[in-house]
Amino acid sequence: MNYPCRNWNVVCLMLAMLGSLPRDVAAVEPVIAVKSDEIAKSRMAVTIGQKIFLDRKLSLPVGQACVSCHSPSAAFADARSVSPGAVKGRKGKRNAPSLMYAALIPSFAYEDLFTKDGSEIYAYEGGLFHDGRARDLFEQVQQPFFDRNEMNLPDLADLATRLRRAEYAAEFEQWIGTRRWNDDSQLTYHAFRALVEFLKEPMFRPFDARIDEYLAGNSEALSTAEIRGLEVFRGAGKCADCHFLEPTGWSPALLSDFGYDNLGVPSRGEKDPGLGARIGAEGMGQFRAPSLRNVELTAPYMHNGSIATLQEVMEFYNKRDVETKRWGATDYPETVNREDMGKLNLTDQQVKDLVALMSAFTDQSVVARKSGQQFPKPPKTVPSTAAKRLYFPDWTHRLHPAFPGVVDQVPVSPQPRSQQETSDRAK
Ligand code: HEC
Ligand code: HEC
Repeated sequence: MNYPCRNWNVVCLMLAMLGSLPRDVAAVEPVIAVKSDEIAKSRMAVTIGQKIFLDRKLSLPVGQACVSCHSPSAAFADARSVSPGAVKGRKGKRNAPSLMYAALIPSFAYEDLFTKDGSEIYAYEGGLFHDGRARDLFEQVQQPFFDRNEMNLPDLADLATRLRRAEYAAEFEQWIGTRRWNDDSQLTYHAFRALVEFLKEPMFRPFDARIDEYLAGNSEALSTAEIRGLEVFRGAGKCADCHFLEPTGWSPALLSDFGYDNLGVPSRGEKDPGLGARIGAEGMGQFRAPSLRNVELTAPYMHNGSIATLQEVMEFYNKRDVETKRWGATDYPETVNREDMGKLNLTDQQVKDLVALMSAFTDQSVVARKSGQQFPKPPKTVPSTAAKRLYFPDWTHRLHPAFPGVVDQVPVSPQPRSQQETSDRAK
């Protein structure tokens, strides 16, 4: 369909009112450009988003919510290596990552970067999911509902019906108004926006770990073992080359460069191409470097949950290529990074110190959450989302079916999963 007004603005609005736009276009309410800023500021969006996050009736069969796999007691990750789906017997093949700081992961991009010696290189970075297949959080939050191995709903219409039956239906309708409420596309669009606003909340980005205090100048915030660990992290371990200690924009250390690499982690059977599903041969087995914030709370580790403890993660980085039998086969040996890891020649003490350092990455508000308290309470000093709204990566409406003329620019190769889904639905 040809879409004469890509971004709704005053001119489009006037044209629409004059009736000079094709009917199907004028029929789509201009909610985006007009309301987008208000959504970002709205507390209603956050409230609804939180309720959706906890709602176990938005799965088929009922019983599974976002929180089922993203548990506050595991820093919003899953302690199981892979999570069971809503349908008994189904499960995915990846470990559910923490949602802490997920709203600060940059959008998927192909960036030109400058290396230390000044030469220019191109690399993929950012994007949500371990393989970056969702360009941003808005695109990401839509997928769990319709993933056959997760919440397993058949389509948007089904989600809309469930939302209209939800306990918070009256509040939701009041927030978006009756016309949008009655339109499946508009209703689900706002449900996704609400989830995104919820995930931007201060409790997901408290930056109150001891490493933050230390990097801000309090040398007593770390123990001597942790300070030794930090030396290894910056030096012989090369960890900080990918798990950045520098602040990015307004935020303190996110402990990731959000780049992609194949670490050669132990295979769990079926091969997982990771970024390769999108970019082909060179990306096979590559996954996005995660933030290490709260990593102490999010075992097991790596995209497939194949490494159980932090001690083992460090031993893997140190001796992957020395103790090859111990770690066994990996999915794509041909693209494994052999330069930065695998034979670091660290002593047992250095490995121990690295493990010790990981506990300095734990946000204090996340562990201070008391039993009976649903979510962590961030420090009062954390800025509001409204105050920082220009700094959140946000593309929002580009891929939503309610706005079909808005073309996504990123080439997306077909996903094996969506084929599965189609054949599943055809049954
Ligand atoms: C059945 C378990 C399950 C449910 C239910 C679930 N997730 Fe996830 N989530 C996962 C797994 C597994 C991944 C990683 C998948 C991948 O990389 O392919 C993930 C990834 C994510 C990510 C990406 C984080 C990152 O670092 O890239 C976000 C954000 C997220 N989920 C939010 C949600 C929201 C919001 C909901 C509810 C609408 C939800 N999840 C429901 C298991 C689940
Ligand atoms: C070349 C970039 C690079 C370097 C150097 C690097 N990492 Fe990583 N790290 C990654 C990537 C990419 C992943 C995710 C791999 C995967 O899931 O398959 C990862 C995953 C991890 C994880 C698991 C996190 C989780 O939530 O599952 C830990 C812990 C970790 N790294 C710590 C370290 C430490 C400590 C060092 C230094 C000894 C280090 N990394 C060096 C890129 C790097």
